[in-house]
Amino acid sequence: MATSQTSPPLTQEGLNHECQELVSSLPREDGWRYSPLYQYQTVWYSQMALLGMIERQRHFKAHDTDILLATTPKSGTTWLKALAFAIVNRTHYPYPQHPLLTSNPHKLVPFFEVDNYPNNQNSDPDSICSPALFCTHVPYIALPQSIKDSDCKVVYLCRNPKDVFISLWHFMNKRKTETQSLISLEKALDLFCAGISPFGPFWDHVLGYWKASLESPQKVMFLKYEDLKKEPIVLLKRLAEFLGCTFTLKEDKDGVIHDILRLCSFENLSNLEVNKVGKFQHRLQHLDGLEHRLFFRRGEVGDSSNYLTTRMIERLDQITEQKFQGYDLRF
Ligand code: A3P
Repeated sequence: MATSQTSPPLTQEGLNHECQELVSSLPREDGWRYSPLYQYQTVWYSQMALLGMIERQRHFKAHDTDILLATTPKSGTTWLKALAFAIVNRTHYPYPQHPLLTSNPHKLVPFFEVDNYPNNQNSDPDSICSPALFCTHVPYIALPQSIKDSDCKVVYLCRNPKDVFISLWHFMNKRKTETQSLISLEKALDLFCAGISPFGPFWDHVLGYWKASLESPQKVMFLKYEDLKKEPIVLLKRLAEFLGCTFTLKEDKDGVIHDILRLCSFENLSNLEVNKVGKFQHRLQHLDGLEHRLFFRRGEVGDSSNYLTTRMIERLDQITEQKFQGYDLRF
């Protein structure tokens, strides 16, 4: 796993004090209810994500063998974590004892901006694997330089903005406290379209990793949720190859790829006891007690059409078209 550089890391208190001052000077938005967002260098972060991101920018030292999974929230992070974990560790566990059957994917693959900050207290002993696998929602532009300079691999998963938006809206309404009112679809859409969503603007996030994947295809792999649904076998093979652990002919014949897809499927994961009743145990208050089941809702492509009006669809499509104009990027 990547480690801190030799310069002494700031203490949590020191960082917090410094960051508290920074945070209080930043534009703030409370519309998503449960956690205010702060705009720092054009990106909207929760306070803890911002603190973690700054700490990581200063001290994170990536290893060439590390693998970083990157997504915007609600793009299929949980699925990608499960798939990547199952691929890189496929020779370590017999299926009946696979850690994904008893641990939530977020426990097995930590978020480097919050889970390992300031030290790794949340990682599961089962998750010790080689190469080291971790995940982030931080935009490409804000990744620690050491990730960009090293040979560490980055896998980005994005998703149709309409489905991301609806998934986010459901998630945020489930996360709000009892005393907070529901976020209306209209208000949420205004925020999302204005770029105000966790780690948003959404479109800039996607474009950042898209451009990086075009510039350095051997370093950054760009995947779409919809393609993974449509052609899972093809993409799983490509992913394994990219990660330097190509499936052998024998594995292919023995059905290993199918086994991984079945293990990581929405149906399988969402019906496991750990994901039905389990909760995060986390040192950060706003993550502690978060129910695993909230990461599994429908897991379908196009569910947003059940919620969005024609005008809302047009609005989102228009922004997507404008933002991605000139880039060969379609959903
Ligand atoms: P929906 O809300 O559209 O159902 P994230 O993991 O980034 O938080 O994204 C959550 C979204 O991914 C949710 O989408 C969730 O249902 C879906 N999801 C979770 N596990 C999945 C899996 N194994 N396969 C496909 N989709 C999955």
